[in-house]
Amino acid sequence: MQATFPSKLKLDLPAFFHAVRAYTEELCAPLETEDYIPQPTVDVSPPKWNIAHTTWFFEEMILKRFAKNYEVFNADFGFLFNSYYNSIGERTRRDNRGDLSRPTVAEVYEYRKHVDRAMDELLAQDLGKEVKELVILGLNHEQQHQELFLSDFKFILSRNPLFPVYRENFAIEEKREPMRGGATVEINEGIYEIGFAGEGFCFDNELGRHKVFLHDFSLNENLVTNAEFLEFIEDGGYCNFNLWHSEGWDWVNQNEVEAPLYWVKRDGEWFNFTLAGLRPVKRDAPVCHVSFYEAAAFAEWKGARLPTEFEWEAASAKFDFGLRWEWTNSAYLPYPNFKKAAGAVGEYNGKFMINQMVLRGGSVATPAAHSRPTYRNFFHPHLRWQFTGIRLAG
Ligand SMILES: [Fe+2]
Repeated sequence: MQATFPSKLKLDLPAFFHAVRAYTEELCAPLETEDYIPQPTVDVSPPKWNIAHTTWFFEEMILKRFAKNYEVFNADFGFLFNSYYNSIGERTRRDNRGDLSRPTVAEVYEYRKHVDRAMDELLAQDLGKEVKELVILGLNHEQQHQELFLSDFKFILSRNPLFPVYRENFAIEEKREPMRGGATVEINEGIYEIGFAGEGFCFDNELGRHKVFLHDFSLNENLVTNAEFLEFIEDGGYCNFNLWHSEGWDWVNQNEVEAPLYWVKRDGEWFNFTLAGLRPVKRDAPVCHVSFYEAAAFAEWKGARLPTEFEWEAASAKFDFGLRWEWTNSAYLPYPNFKKAAGAVGEYNGKFMINQMVLRGGSVATPAAHSRPTYRNFFHPHLRWQFTGIRLAG
């Protein structure tokens, strides 16, 4: 059901546009009107806001600037659905997104149609490089929000004591890797090139390709499984301060954390809330929804460590990825020669390069062909509502 497209500039842009926009609506197909509204925590956006905001991106960044005679759908939407772009102006407070019962869901779908029609007209024209690149950025932005839609909506459903099902047979969290016997990839010391090169789309944070020196290291071919993580729990991993960063230990205690997010203990058995409802923890699936703190503590318990993002990228051709966003031990910082783009899109990545950790790979919720080995995802170390997991290095 996922849209698959090569990340090439020579792609069929109208077809890419239609496929991405349609996939967002397909993801929303199981929702009832009430599902579109709640915002149980600041990091989780309501589905209505998500699908309006991705539409806003095309209206604000492209149609208002490049489409002749474009009629803005509703002048207030520029305020309501701006996420974090100061250069565009004032906006709804991030923690107030769930307070918006109006515009209605139906009006937001009308907004999507209005913008899609205008984009169709624009895409039928002979477009310059700047517009084409903005359309591709807008589509990659919408793909990021497709993954956010799934992680946000899962969190919303998880607040309900009835543990509602998003889609039957959609327990994507249980997808597992082919068995490989737990082998490791060995990488020799040397100088490696890091960052995006070649044709096609990448985000600006992947640019500034540069050399790094790496010592000999090894990386596990397999992600850490639920069974392994259960051993950590049963060995008192959450109770042993020696395993944790100071901040992580505070986080465990303040939040009384004793298992990955969405694990629920019933009659002595661990269950896992998935997009297909509450199910027994599947032992051979990779552990999911762990924070950086948990990933680092697990690595410490195992006598291993998390890879740096440079090690991960240098070794990435030698293992499969795409089941979990994998925490690295690298702070999210600009590469040498990183340049912020001019204008509002300059706010896309650069201003977040502080106090966050890099995740590599991609997850079962990432749209197909959206990620690549140089892709840099980033979150604050305590967050775990994304489909995050652990790969160990040594
Ligand atoms: Fe966004």
